[in-house]
Amino acid sequence: MDQIFFEIFEALPRQGPGDAKSTKKAFSKLAGLPEHPEILDVGCGSGGQTLILARLSSGNITALDNHAPFVDKLKRNARRDGYAERIHCVVWDMNSMNFPEESFNAIWCEGAAFVMGVSNALKAWRPLLRPKGYLAVSELVWFKKRAPKEVKDFFAREYPDMKHYKDIYPVIESSGYKMIDYFPLPGESWWTHYYTPVEKKLVALRRKYKNNQDAQAIFDSFQLEIDMHRKYSQYYGYGFYIMQKAKT
Ligand SMILES: C[S@@+](CC[C@H](N)C(=O)[O-])C[C@H]1O[C@@H](n2cnc3c(N)ncnc32)[C@H](O)[C@@H]1O
Repeated sequence: MDQIFFEIFEALPRQGPGDAKSTKKAFSKLAGLPEHPEILDVGCGSGGQTLILARLSSGNITALDNHAPFVDKLKRNARRDGYAERIHCVVWDMNSMNFPEESFNAIWCEGAAFVMGVSNALKAWRPLLRPKGYLAVSELVWFKKRAPKEVKDFFAREYPDMKHYKDIYPVIESSGYKMIDYFPLPGESWWTHYYTPVEKKLVALRRKYKNNQDAQAIFDSFQLEIDMHRKYSQYYGYGFYIMQKAKT
């Protein structure tokens, strides 16, 4: 079934909600970066945000993901856009990264910190940052404390660890960072490069796997997630958190 999951995602421009304007906005908060910063992009997927970081930064970017076909696609696109020298692609598990301490001026992670849990990720990645280095993370959060039962129940199953956006602020402080900024991703980041192409792909895959009940169940669950967002997007979304390594 993994194959079907990846068949949906490999064709997409991004593997989660996000958009160029938001990446740019978050990057603009990293005041005082050196001219050629070392940046680590964790869970880069096929590199939607990596190429933008390359354009914005004139630094070196290590882009890491454990799914080789995503990384291969980024490699091809980096070559196409003339960034092959500055984007170093790594197929690796984020749980066992072994870069030397203080390797990076900034760590970027759009929509992938949930893999380790946001609190574990913040703690594990801090030693990799140089003094006053930055960490920028986008994460699925509740925008409101109260939400209808249907959507509460959905995320209690899908992402039980999902926090209210303000409940991440103390996690940032207690993990050894200073909070620099927060903003919610706009609605379009869910649709333009993500749910709209996913829905299109689902139509084609439903036809291709019309006799495969397990595959149809996967498509149903994706459709349910999308329908949930159509109905309840005012209650939850992605928050972008920008923080800076603090002295301990
Ligand atoms: C929601 S996607 C976000 C991808 C990309 N940052 C974006 O916004 O388009 C999460 C990414 O995390 C990657 N991932 C999942 N588990 C991982 C792990 N243990 N180590 C490294 N990457 C992982 C997935 O392959 C996927 O590309």
